[in-house]
Amino acid sequence: MIADLTLAIVHHILVFGLAVMMATELARLKPGLAGPEVARLARLDAGYGGTAGLIVVIGVLRVIYGVKGYAYYVGNPWFWAKMGAFGLIGLLSIPPTIAFLRWRKAQATEPGFAPPDSEIARIRRFLVYQMALLILVVALAATMARLG
Ligand code: HEM
Repeated sequence: MIADLTLAIVHHILVFGLAVMMATELARLKPGLAGPEVARLARLDAGYGGTAGLIVVIGVLRVIYGVKGYAYYVGNPWFWAKMGAFGLIGLLSIPPTIAFLRWRKAQATEPGFAPPDSEIARIRRFLVYQMALLILVVALAATMARLG
């Protein structure tokens, strides 16, 4: 019971952290982005990736050590829908990460480099889709916990 409660608390904190990081990334990814802001964005993105990784670890521990038991989830289509939507968020996070790393590299080799506004707009779209999917993941989480 204590393990289940602890894992649930950590899971929620990480999920809220992920949402905050996603929103901050979107707020910072504005036309005119340049200079040290690019490196800050890349660091935030690394934190976002690390938090997502921890969510997977804690999520798997909840499946194994949660009070409902492993069998409740493996046969639960809502759980798999949630995993699918979460996986999609992971895929959608790849292009922004690649862009941030590329921009940092360009800054190191071309002094004064700033990402073009058109590319910033394109990368913003990936973040907006991720945020929409995060809402879906939360809805699927509540469903999987109740309809098994
Ligand atoms: C960003 C991704 C995720 C979000 C937003 C999220 C959100 C949530 C929320 C809000 C709950 C509470 C549901 C409720 O009690 O009403 C929950 C429960 C849970 N989540 Fe996640 N989760 C995420 C990722 C994962 C992953 C990757 C796994 C497993 C590998 C996982 C496994 C679980 C489990 C086992 C529960 C307990 C459900 C129950 O009480 O039966 N979650 N999640």
